[in-house]
Amino acid sequence: MHKSEPDRILFHTGNKGKFLEASNLMRLKGIKLQLLSDHSPEIQVIEPQLDAFQEVAVSKLKQVVGQLGDGFDADWIMVEDAGLLIDHLDGFPGPYSSYVFSTIGPEGILKLMQGVESREARFMASIALWDGDRVHSFEGKCEGIISPKAVGVRGFGYDPIFIPNGGNGRTFSEMQEDEKSSFSHRANALNIMAETLFLPSI
Ligand code: IMP
Repeated sequence: MHKSEPDRILFHTGNKGKFLEASNLMRLKGIKLQLLSDHSPEIQVIEPQLDAFQEVAVSKLKQVVGQLGDGFDADWIMVEDAGLLIDHLDGFPGPYSSYVFSTIGPEGILKLMQGVESREARFMASIALWDGDRVHSFEGKCEGIISPKAVGVRGFGYDPIFIPNGGNGRTFSEMQEDEKSSFSHRANALNIMAETLFLPSI
């Protein structure tokens, strides 16, 4: 028996790259993801400065659900918070990933990592999902290293400077979207979400 499934999940994000990755992956699983802003452009969310991605995602989700108007009773609502954690920098930029991206950017991270040998890093993603009744959380991560220089043209954010383990030394920006999704933190979290909520239970 299948667990009850919504007709669609509405994703609140201002990041088109994130939305495309998530919606393409979910489509393969038969789950329709749409941008909440296409239906409710007035919804505004303040990103809280918290240490855990999960707390940020849940806080944002609650803000979104609190502003939902009529007509969304049958929909599920999703938000996702992600970031890059670099071991040599004690997990920086972590929860500050968005701020760091818009200030010093990936080039600034490369400067901080100049001459550093141990370049281990990971992307983390936390999804918070509202099913009309309760909040579910799902976490995904992707281990890798910081590239010595920015390489590639695809993707978004820190993709040009992140080399996932198992990707033959290429950055996310050198990969097609479906290949990135075979490694990525976001895809891992979405796969867990789909397996937990939508696969037949026996
Ligand atoms: P947020 O989850 O949108 O707050 O993302 C925080 C920062 O991490 C932003 O600057 C994003 O561009 C970046 N980011 C999130 N996910 C990814 C990814 O999959 N690749 C590269 N950068 C990402």
